Amino acid sequence: MSTTTFAPQVHAESLVGPIQQQIAKIVDDLIAQLPQPEQLSSEQRRGIIARYTAVLEGNFIYWMTAASIAVKCDEVRTILAENLHEEVRDAHPVMLRKFAVAAHAFPTDTDALSIDADLTRVRLFLGKLQGVQSLLTMAFFEGFIQRFMGYLASLAAAQRSTEMEYTNVHGICDITHTAELYRALQLEMALNPAGPDADLFEGVDILRTLIVAIVLGPTQNAAG
Ligand SMILES: [Fe+2]
Repeated sequence: MSTTTFAPQVHAESLVGPIQQQIAKIVDDLIAQLPQPEQLSSEQRRGIIARYTAVLEGNFIYWMTAASIAVKCDEVRTILAENLHEEVRDAHPVMLRKFAVAAHAFPTDTDALSIDADLTRVRLFLGKLQGVQSLLTMAFFEGFIQRFMGYLASLAAAQRSTEMEYTNVHGICDITHTAELYRALQLEMALNPAGPDADLFEGVDILRTLIVAIVLGPTQNAAG
């Protein structure tokens, strides 16, 4: 009895550390590949802010909600609810919209449609409601966002904006969110593990492709 109770938990603990390291490496690689803001044209800087806004403003709360629906562990749902609570209470989409407008980078229809196919893939993946894979995807996303904030702020500054509430808030609060999501991952893996043949990084790979599309833009992305 005790063996069947504790085995998944021990297994989950031993898995989360290496997974977290793997995600950190993927984030490091993405950050290392970012083009220097001063080497970009004003239009290229505007495009990155606009595509980031087109993805994040309307989708972050949706995706965190999707992960919350997918998980089976009540304690995990509480962790995700705390994250959502902060998003809604502090109106993070309002902060992001202000940030984009102040940088003259509010997304156009062209910006939004340039990432549409990659965005759709993320939505459809989360629609599969796979608890562990969805959590891992959101942990990756939080970790990336936190590291990306300084870069996003430097793009906006180069566009002569001084509106930095969004980037200031997310460079700090996402550190806690990321740690909490890995704790959630461990809990969910113990209670509701992915199948032996599951690709744990399915959503991470799909989201990573979307992030590359945000940064590179439609032309470069199509060429690469
Ligand atoms: Fe947020």
